[in-house]
Amino acid sequence: MKKTRICNILKIRYPVLQGGMLWLADANLAAAVSNAGALGVISPYAGMQINGDPMDNLKSQIEKVGEMTKKPFGVNIPLDLRQSGLLLDVCLTQGVKIVITAAGNPAQYTKLLQGEGALVMHVVSSVKQAKKAQECEVDAIIVEGVESAGHIGFDELPLFSLIPQVVDNVHIPVIAAGGIVDVRGVVAAFSLGAQGVQMGTRFVAVDENIAHKNYKDAIIKAQDSDTVVTSRKVVPTRSLKTEFSMRLMEMERSGSSEKDISDFIGYRRSFTCQLEGKLDKGEAFAGTSAGMIDDIVPASVVIQRLVEGYSDVVDRLAES
Ligand SMILES: Cc1cc2nc3c(=O)[nH]c(=O)nc-3n(C[C@H](O)[C@H](O)[C@H](O)COP(=O)(O)O)c2cc1C
Repeated sequence: MKKTRICNILKIRYPVLQGGMLWLADANLAAAVSNAGALGVISPYAGMQINGDPMDNLKSQIEKVGEMTKKPFGVNIPLDLRQSGLLLDVCLTQGVKIVITAAGNPAQYTKLLQGEGALVMHVVSSVKQAKKAQECEVDAIIVEGVESAGHIGFDELPLFSLIPQVVDNVHIPVIAAGGIVDVRGVVAAFSLGAQGVQMGTRFVAVDENIAHKNYKDAIIKAQDSDTVVTSRKVVPTRSLKTEFSMRLMEMERSGSSEKDISDFIGYRRSFTCQLEGKLDKGEAFAGTSAGMIDDIVPASVVIQRLVEGYSDVVDRLAES
Protein backbone atom coordinates (compact mmCIF):
# COMPACT_ATOMS: atom_id res chain seq x y z
CA MET A 1 0.00 0.00 0.00
CA LYS A 2 1.09 3.56 -0.69
CA LYS A 3 3.30 5.15 1.98
CA THR A 4 2.13 8.61 2.94
CA ARG A 5 3.25 11.48 5.18
CA ILE A 6 1.26 9.85 7.97
CA CYS A 7 3.50 6.76 7.79
CA ASN A 8 6.58 8.93 8.23
CA ILE A 9 5.11 11.02 11.04
CA LEU A 10 3.74 8.05 13.02
CA LYS A 11 6.54 5.66 11.99
CA ILE A 12 4.09 3.01 10.80
CA ARG A 13 4.20 0.82 7.72
CA TYR A 14 0.63 1.32 6.47
CA PRO A 15 -1.39 4.55 6.72
CA VAL A 16 -4.19 2.89 8.68
CA LEU A 17 -5.38 3.63 12.23
CA GLN A 18 -7.62 1.59 14.49
CA GLY A 19 -10.07 4.08 16.00
CA GLY A 20 -10.35 4.68 19.74
CA MET A 21 -13.30 2.77 21.25
CA LEU A 22 -14.01 3.83 24.81
CA TRP A 23 -14.77 0.44 26.42
CA LEU A 24 -13.27 -1.82 23.77
CA ALA A 25 -9.89 -0.67 22.49
CA ASP A 26 -7.59 -2.43 24.95
CA ALA A 27 -3.90 -3.32 24.83
CA ASN A 28 -4.52 -6.68 23.19
CA LEU A 29 -6.37 -5.15 20.23
CA ALA A 30 -3.96 -2.23 19.89
CA ALA A 31 -0.94 -4.57 19.93
CA ALA A 32 -2.49 -6.84 17.27
CA VAL A 33 -3.10 -3.85 14.99
CA SER A 34 0.33 -2.30 15.59
CA ASN A 35 2.09 -5.62 15.07
CA ALA A 36 0.31 -5.87 11.69
CA GLY A 37 1.90 -2.57 10.59
CA ALA A 38 -0.94 -0.11 11.25
CA LEU A 39 -1.50 2.07 14.34
CA GLY A 40 -3.22 0.40 17.29
CA VAL A 41 -4.96 2.74 19.71
CA ILE A 42 -5.87 2.25 23.38
CA SER A 43 -8.94 3.80 25.03
CA PRO A 44 -9.01 4.62 28.73
CA TYR A 45 -11.97 2.49 29.88
CA ALA A 46 -11.12 -0.56 27.77
CA GLY A 47 -10.43 -3.67 29.81
CA MET A 48 -11.78 -2.31 33.11
CA GLN A 49 -14.87 -3.31 35.08
CA ILE A 50 -17.88 -1.03 35.02
CA ASN A 51 -16.89 0.67 38.29
CA GLY A 52 -13.15 0.50 37.75
CA ASP A 53 -10.68 3.37 37.98
CA PRO A 54 -9.94 4.67 34.46
CA MET A 55 -6.55 6.13 35.44
CA ASP A 56 -5.31 2.83 36.93
CA ASN A 57 -6.74 0.96 33.98
CA LEU A 58 -5.10 3.20 31.39
CA LYS A 59 -1.73 2.91 33.14
CA SER A 60 -1.91 -0.89 33.13
CA GLN A 61 -3.10 -1.04 29.50
CA ILE A 62 -0.18 1.16 28.43
CA GLU A 63 2.26 -1.07 30.30
CA LYS A 64 0.66 -4.14 28.76
CA VAL A 65 0.79 -2.88 25.18
CA GLY A 66 4.45 -2.01 25.69
CA GLU A 67 5.07 -5.67 26.52
CA MET A 68 3.08 -6.91 23.51
CA THR A 69 4.58 -4.75 20.76
CA LYS A 70 7.67 -2.72 20.05
CA LYS A 71 5.77 -0.86 17.31
CA PRO A 72 4.17 2.58 17.81
CA PHE A 73 0.70 2.78 19.38
CA GLY A 74 -1.58 5.66 20.36
CA VAL A 75 -3.94 6.56 23.19
CA ASN A 76 -7.33 8.17 22.53
CA ILE A 77 -8.64 10.63 25.12
CA PRO A 78 -12.12 12.11 24.59
CA LEU A 79 -11.83 15.53 26.22
CA ASP A 80 -15.47 15.45 27.31
CA LEU A 81 -14.71 12.69 29.83
CA ARG A 82 -14.79 14.04 33.38
CA GLN A 83 -11.32 12.64 34.06
CA SER A 84 -9.71 13.75 30.76
CA GLY A 85 -7.06 15.89 32.50
CA LEU A 86 -6.08 13.05 34.82
CA LEU A 87 -6.02 10.59 31.93
CA LEU A 88 -3.70 12.88 29.97
CA ASP A 89 -1.46 13.05 33.06
CA VAL A 90 -1.24 9.25 32.87
CA CYS A 91 -0.21 9.55 29.19
CA LEU A 92 2.50 12.03 30.17
CA THR A 93 3.88 10.02 33.08
CA GLN A 94 3.85 6.84 30.99
CA GLY A 95 5.69 8.60 28.14
CA VAL A 96 2.99 7.93 25.51
CA LYS A 97 4.30 9.08 22.14
CA ILE A 98 1.02 9.45 20.20
CA VAL A 99 -2.11 11.00 21.74
CA ILE A 100 -5.40 11.38 19.91
CA THR A 101 -7.76 13.87 21.48
CA ALA A 102 -11.44 14.14 20.58
CA ALA A 103 -14.67 15.85 21.61
CA GLY A 104 -13.25 19.07 22.99
CA ASN A 105 -10.91 21.98 22.49
CA PRO A 106 -7.41 21.05 21.25
CA ALA A 107 -6.05 24.34 22.66
CA GLN A 108 -6.26 22.85 26.16
CA TYR A 109 -3.52 20.22 26.07
CA THR A 110 -1.76 20.12 22.68
CA LYS A 111 1.26 22.25 23.64
CA LEU A 112 1.68 20.49 26.97
CA LEU A 113 1.70 17.05 25.32
CA GLN A 114 4.02 18.12 22.51
CA GLY A 115 6.34 19.72 25.07
CA GLU A 116 6.77 16.26 26.57
CA GLY A 117 7.58 14.77 23.17
CA ALA A 118 4.16 13.40 22.15
CA LEU A 119 2.60 13.73 18.72
CA VAL A 120 -0.96 15.01 18.96
CA MET A 121 -3.81 14.28 16.55
CA HIS A 122 -7.28 15.70 17.06
CA VAL A 123 -10.63 14.41 15.79
CA VAL A 124 -12.74 16.97 13.90
CA SER A 125 -15.99 16.90 11.94
CA SER A 126 -16.05 20.25 10.07
CA VAL A 127 -13.74 22.67 8.24
CA LYS A 128 -14.07 25.14 11.12
CA GLN A 129 -12.88 22.57 13.67
CA ALA A 130 -10.08 21.47 11.33
CA LYS A 131 -8.79 25.05 11.02
CA LYS A 132 -9.01 25.51 14.77
CA ALA A 133 -7.02 22.31 15.37
CA GLN A 134 -4.39 23.50 12.90
CA GLU A 135 -4.15 26.85 14.73
CA CYS A 136 -3.47 24.85 17.89
CA GLU A 137 -0.60 23.22 15.97
CA VAL A 138 -1.74 19.62 16.25
CA ASP A 139 0.39 17.26 14.15
CA ALA A 140 -2.50 15.81 12.13
CA ILE A 141 -6.28 15.69 12.15
CA ILE A 142 -8.72 12.83 11.92
CA VAL A 143 -11.78 13.93 9.98
CA GLU A 144 -14.92 11.99 10.91
CA GLY A 145 -17.89 12.00 8.58
CA VAL A 146 -21.54 11.37 9.45
CA GLU A 147 -21.00 7.72 8.46
CA SER A 148 -18.92 7.11 11.60
CA ALA A 149 -19.86 4.96 14.56
CA GLY A 150 -20.51 6.58 17.92
CA HIS A 151 -20.50 10.31 18.52
CA ILE A 152 -20.50 12.34 15.31
CA GLY A 153 -20.40 16.06 14.53
CA PHE A 154 -23.48 18.22 15.02
CA ASP A 155 -23.39 19.23 11.34
CA GLU A 156 -23.58 15.57 10.20
CA LEU A 157 -21.36 16.13 7.14
CA PRO A 158 -20.70 13.20 4.80
CA LEU A 159 -17.04 12.24 4.39
CA PHE A 160 -17.17 12.44 0.57
CA SER A 161 -17.66 16.19 0.58
CA LEU A 162 -16.01 16.92 3.93
CA ILE A 163 -12.51 15.59 3.12
CA PRO A 164 -11.89 17.76 0.02
CA GLN A 165 -13.12 20.86 1.82
CA VAL A 166 -10.88 20.16 4.81
CA VAL A 167 -7.77 19.41 2.72
CA ASP A 168 -8.33 22.66 0.79
CA ASN A 169 -8.25 24.56 4.08
CA VAL A 170 -5.39 23.03 6.07
CA HIS A 171 -1.81 22.04 5.34
CA ILE A 172 -1.42 19.38 8.06
CA PRO A 173 -2.06 15.71 7.21
CA VAL A 174 -5.65 14.53 7.17
CA ILE A 175 -6.87 11.07 8.14
CA ALA A 176 -10.33 10.04 6.97
CA ALA A 177 -12.80 8.18 9.21
CA GLY A 178 -16.33 6.95 8.74
CA GLY A 179 -17.74 4.19 6.58
CA ILE A 180 -14.37 2.77 5.52
CA VAL A 181 -13.97 -1.01 5.66
CA ASP A 182 -12.04 -2.17 2.64
CA VAL A 183 -9.48 -1.03 0.14
CA ARG A 184 -12.08 0.72 -2.03
CA GLY A 185 -12.73 3.10 0.84
CA VAL A 186 -9.02 3.62 1.39
CA VAL A 187 -8.39 4.48 -2.28
CA ALA A 188 -11.43 6.77 -2.33
CA ALA A 189 -10.18 8.59 0.79
CA PHE A 190 -6.73 9.02 -0.76
CA SER A 191 -8.23 10.35 -3.99
CA LEU A 192 -10.15 12.95 -1.97
CA GLY A 193 -6.87 14.13 -0.43
CA ALA A 194 -6.60 12.15 2.82
CA GLN A 195 -3.23 10.66 3.75
CA GLY A 196 -4.53 7.94 6.01
CA VAL A 197 -7.70 6.23 7.16
CA GLN A 198 -9.15 5.31 10.53
CA MET A 199 -11.58 2.44 11.00
CA GLY A 200 -13.71 1.70 14.04
CA THR A 201 -16.60 -0.69 13.35
CA ARG A 202 -14.39 -3.02 11.29
CA PHE A 203 -12.16 -3.43 14.36
CA VAL A 204 -15.13 -4.32 16.58
CA ALA A 205 -15.73 -7.46 14.51
CA VAL A 206 -12.24 -8.90 14.98
CA ASP A 207 -11.08 -11.82 17.13
CA GLU A 208 -9.03 -9.63 19.47
CA ASN A 209 -11.88 -7.24 20.32
CA ILE A 210 -13.39 -7.84 23.77
CA ALA A 211 -16.86 -6.84 22.51
CA HIS A 212 -19.62 -9.38 23.26
CA LYS A 213 -20.46 -11.92 20.54
CA ASN A 214 -24.04 -10.60 20.32
CA TYR A 215 -22.71 -7.16 19.38
CA LYS A 216 -20.21 -8.54 16.85
CA ASP A 217 -22.92 -10.76 15.32
CA ALA A 218 -25.31 -7.82 15.06
CA ILE A 219 -22.66 -5.87 13.13
CA ILE A 220 -22.18 -8.79 10.75
CA LYS A 221 -25.91 -9.09 10.18
CA ALA A 222 -26.43 -5.36 9.62
CA GLN A 223 -27.31 -4.13 6.12
CA ASP A 224 -26.92 -0.68 4.61
CA SER A 225 -29.82 0.94 6.43
CA ASP A 226 -29.44 -0.75 9.81
CA THR A 227 -27.77 2.14 11.62
CA VAL A 228 -29.41 5.32 12.81
CA VAL A 229 -28.39 8.70 14.26
CA THR A 230 -30.01 9.49 17.61
CA SER A 231 -29.55 11.96 20.47
CA ARG A 232 -29.28 14.98 18.16
CA LYS A 233 -30.07 17.34 21.05
CA VAL A 234 -27.35 15.91 23.28
CA VAL A 235 -24.60 14.49 21.07
CA PRO A 236 -25.51 12.99 17.70
CA THR A 237 -24.64 9.30 17.84
CA ARG A 238 -24.66 6.56 15.20
CA SER A 239 -25.61 3.08 16.43
CA LEU A 240 -27.28 -0.06 15.22
CA LYS A 241 -31.05 0.08 14.97
CA THR A 242 -32.10 -1.72 18.14
CA GLU A 243 -34.98 -1.49 20.56
CA PHE A 244 -32.81 0.92 22.57
CA SER A 245 -32.05 3.30 19.67
CA MET A 246 -35.66 3.14 18.47
CA ARG A 247 -36.81 4.16 21.96
CA LEU A 248 -34.36 7.08 21.85
CA MET A 249 -35.74 8.15 18.46
CA GLU A 250 -39.24 8.02 19.86
CA MET A 251 -38.23 10.19 22.84
CA GLU A 252 -36.74 12.79 20.49
CA ARG A 253 -39.83 12.76 18.26
CA SER A 254 -42.12 13.26 21.22
CA GLY A 255 -40.05 16.23 22.48
CA SER A 256 -38.34 14.70 25.54
CA SER A 257 -35.93 17.05 27.29
CA GLU A 258 -32.14 16.81 26.95
CA LYS A 259 -31.99 15.66 30.56
CA ASP A 260 -34.49 12.83 30.01
CA ILE A 261 -32.59 11.71 26.92
CA SER A 262 -29.23 11.85 28.74
CA ASP A 263 -30.70 9.94 31.69
CA PHE A 264 -32.06 7.28 29.34
CA ILE A 265 -28.69 6.90 27.55
CA GLY A 266 -27.22 6.54 31.02
CA TYR A 267 -23.71 6.74 32.32
CA ARG A 268 -21.72 3.65 31.28
CA ARG A 269 -24.75 1.91 29.78
CA SER A 270 -22.84 1.24 26.57
CA PHE A 271 -20.74 -1.18 28.71
CA THR A 272 -23.88 -3.29 29.31
CA CYS A 273 -24.61 -3.34 25.61
CA GLN A 274 -21.17 -3.70 24.09
CA LEU A 275 -19.51 -5.99 26.66
CA GLU A 276 -22.40 -7.90 28.20
CA GLY A 277 -24.25 -8.26 24.91
CA LYS A 278 -27.55 -6.78 26.13
CA LEU A 279 -28.22 -4.90 22.94
CA ASP A 280 -31.55 -3.49 24.15
CA LYS A 281 -29.93 -1.91 27.22
CA GLY A 282 -27.47 0.56 25.69
CA GLU A 283 -25.94 2.06 22.59
CA ALA A 284 -24.49 -0.42 20.08
CA PHE A 285 -22.22 2.04 18.25
CA ALA A 286 -21.78 1.18 14.56
CA GLY A 287 -20.94 3.07 11.39
CA THR A 288 -22.69 2.74 8.05
CA SER A 289 -19.64 0.56 7.40
CA ALA A 290 -21.43 -2.25 9.29
CA GLY A 291 -23.32 -3.13 6.09
CA MET A 292 -20.00 -4.12 4.46
CA ILE A 293 -18.68 -6.31 7.29
CA ASP A 294 -19.59 -9.96 7.09
CA ASP A 295 -17.00 -11.87 9.08
CA ILE A 296 -15.03 -11.89 12.30
CA VAL A 297 -11.33 -12.23 11.54
CA PRO A 298 -8.03 -11.50 13.26
CA ALA A 299 -7.09 -7.80 13.15
CA SER A 300 -4.03 -8.69 11.06
CA VAL A 301 -6.35 -10.07 8.34
CA VAL A 302 -8.17 -6.73 8.12
CA ILE A 303 -4.85 -5.02 7.43
CA GLN A 304 -3.62 -7.81 5.13
CA ARG A 305 -6.77 -7.50 2.97
CA LEU A 306 -6.13 -3.78 2.54
CA VAL A 307 -2.53 -4.35 1.58
CA GLU A 308 -3.25 -7.21 -0.84
CA GLY A 309 -6.21 -5.51 -2.50
CA TYR A 310 -4.61 -2.10 -2.95
CA SER A 311 -2.88 -2.52 -6.29
CA ASP A 312 -5.90 -4.36 -7.80
CA VAL A 313 -8.16 -1.42 -7.06
CA VAL A 314 -5.61 1.11 -8.30
CA ASP A 315 -5.06 -0.96 -11.50
CA ARG A 316 -8.81 -1.19 -12.05
CA LEU A 317 -9.02 2.61 -11.79
CA ALA A 318 -6.29 2.97 -14.39
CA GLU A 319 -8.17 0.64 -16.79
CA SER A 320 -11.59 2.22 -16.45
C1 LIG B 1 -17.66 0.95 19.84
C2 LIG B 1 -17.07 2.24 19.39
C3 LIG B 1 -16.62 3.16 20.34
C4 LIG B 1 -16.03 4.37 19.94
N1 LIG B 1 -15.51 5.21 20.89
C5 LIG B 1 -14.76 6.29 20.50
C6 LIG B 1 -14.03 7.03 21.46
O1 LIG B 1 -14.02 6.74 22.67
N2 LIG B 1 -13.29 8.08 21.02
C7 LIG B 1 -13.23 8.43 19.68
O2 LIG B 1 -12.53 9.40 19.34
N3 LIG B 1 -13.93 7.73 18.76
C8 LIG B 1 -14.66 6.66 19.13
N4 LIG B 1 -15.29 5.90 18.18
C9 LIG B 1 -15.17 6.27 16.75
C10 LIG B 1 -13.99 5.51 16.07
O3 LIG B 1 -12.76 5.82 16.66
C11 LIG B 1 -13.92 5.79 14.55
O4 LIG B 1 -13.53 7.11 14.27
C12 LIG B 1 -15.22 5.51 13.83
O5 LIG B 1 -15.74 4.29 14.27
C13 LIG B 1 -15.01 5.50 12.32
O6 LIG B 1 -16.17 5.09 11.65
P1 LIG B 1 -16.43 3.54 11.22
O7 LIG B 1 -16.93 2.88 12.44
O8 LIG B 1 -17.47 3.60 10.15
O9 LIG B 1 -15.14 2.96 10.76
C14 LIG B 1 -15.92 4.70 18.56
C15 LIG B 1 -16.38 3.76 17.61
C16 LIG B 1 -16.93 2.55 18.01
C17 LIG B 1 -17.37 1.55 16.96
